[in-house]
Amino acid sequence: MLQRLIRFFQKASQEQTDEHGIVLDSVPNHVAIIMDGNGRWARRRGLPRIAGHRAGMQTVKEITRAADDIGVKVLTLYAFSTENWKRPTDEVDFLMRLPEEFLRMELETLMKRNCRIRILGYPEGLPEHTRQVVTDAEIKTKDNTGLILNIALNYGSRAEMLQAVKQIAQDVADGVLQVEDINEQSMDNALLTRGLPDPDLMIRTSGEVRLSNFLLWQVAYTELWFTDMFWPDFKREDFFHAIREFQGRGRRFGGLK
Ligand code: IPE
Ligand code: IPE
Ligand code: MG
Repeated sequence: MLQRLIRFFQKASQEQTDEHGIVLDSVPNHVAIIMDGNGRWARRRGLPRIAGHRAGMQTVKEITRAADDIGVKVLTLYAFSTENWKRPTDEVDFLMRLPEEFLRMELETLMKRNCRIRILGYPEGLPEHTRQVVTDAEIKTKDNTGLILNIALNYGSRAEMLQAVKQIAQDVADGVLQVEDINEQSMDNALLTRGLPDPDLMIRTSGEVRLSNFLLWQVAYTELWFTDMFWPDFKREDFFHAIREFQGRGRRFGGLK
């Protein structure tokens, strides 16, 4: 008992926390965020939904910088799903202009911070002007070695998994892969997230408690964290709060502590 207590205090004194109470050596490598509630945020203020999307873009800036500041390696932001095309054309058009606006404002800062931009999704489904700016940003930042800002744009997890299954089936048909050799690694390699670690933490704002077709394969052992706040109200300090709670959780991956 006494020894356990001593070990506890030894460990506590070794753990270095920053000014936000975040334990520096257990910052999640990969954080994924479902940025939800822009429309409701705007409606509450008597504004059109698109005003919420513009305000949400400021939050993207703030949270990207916060993630980079504490040493997160990959930040995946759900910006537009394969189902969001069902929305009114005006809103979709506005959302498809936002990456341009965001990158015009922020690309220089991201470059200075050595951040690499990656697009997660199906670029061929995007309007030409959107595809152009995001591809340019990917190329411009491709040699950066800091935070990977992974923007999920026209992304859907079922589409991603279907495509992976088709690719694996094709490899079997071509004789380059045996059915017995298909394993989790084969699936990981066939997904759009290939090369990235699975998310350690997934955050969703706006009070909705669902995944909405986001990273279904990858979140098998991800810690989920929900808040009622709307995305435009979500601040740096709220992000740190989520990180601290993540650090207080015991991850077991099916085993025992
Ligand atoms: C999230 O906010 C942004 C996108 C899905 C593009 P919403 O637009 O879904 O906002 P709510 O959920 O309607 O409030
Ligand atoms: C999920 O939010 C997609 C993004 C945040 C881009 P939605 O607002 O589209 O999800 P549902 O419709 O509430 O499930
Ligand atoms: Mg929503």
